Amino acid sequence: MEVIIRPDPEQAADLAARLIAARLRAKPDLVLGLATGRTMERVYDRLVAMREKEKLDFSGCRTFNLDEYIGVPAEDERSYRYYMNHHLFRRVNVDLANTHVPDGMAPDLGAEAVRYERQIHEAGGIDLQLLGIGEAGHIGFNEPLSALRSRTREKALTPVTRRQNAAMFGGDPDKVPPRALTMGVGTILEARELLLLATGAAKASILAKAVEGPITAMISASAIQLHANCKVVVDEQAGRELQGREYYDWVFQNEPEWREFCA
Ligand code: F6R
Repeated sequence: MEVIIRPDPEQAADLAARLIAARLRAKPDLVLGLATGRTMERVYDRLVAMREKEKLDFSGCRTFNLDEYIGVPAEDERSYRYYMNHHLFRRVNVDLANTHVPDGMAPDLGAEAVRYERQIHEAGGIDLQLLGIGEAGHIGFNEPLSALRSRTREKALTPVTRRQNAAMFGGDPDKVPPRALTMGVGTILEARELLLLATGAAKASILAKAVEGPITAMISASAIQLHANCKVVVDEQAGRELQGREYYDWVFQNEPEWREFCA
């Protein structure tokens, strides 16, 4: 794992976007795993800017989102399908038919989960999975005690997560859907590369536990320590409880793979 600490949320998002763009340029039919949430909005804005200014090409790209609320239709602005269309898909030249978000309205959610896993498999697996981290320590909606080998499935959301996501539901945590369909931790770990982005002081404590603490199903994000190709990009605020800062900074400044991103 490598941890990169940038001075502010803009520069952290910029680095994440440039990494995604580099992978897309190297492999135009990239299978890209995506996340929603406030942290990612800056990343998507930058990808859109790269589309406009540099003609970054999404036409061959296929995408799979991590999760979706159960019972919120795609056309509802609070759904993750709506979020993705709004923040990224309709603003770049991706073929909407190649974008995938689990269907939280499926009559048989178990069958939908199996279908989603099969689609990822048929696409050849995910090349690069973008991740945020929730205050409950989740990646996707893998709430505490999610098995580290779990697959796409229904998951009940914790009160912490429903509070964190209440803004879109009139500020009322009780209005946040209680359940979601989410890729499992095992599904996420099968991606060939992971890129976790965290910004803001509210993430500092949980981020340090996930990166430097013991691997535990109580904090599903800690499972990224099991991945052989994982990058964690944070801003100063989110990185302020990390113990190994000096070493992480040295790696970023000196290792050749980061040269093009250091400027
Ligand atoms: C959303 C997702 C979540 C978020 C996390 C952080 O698709 O997978 O794990 O990435 O809850 O959300 P924000 O960025 O809103 O703090």
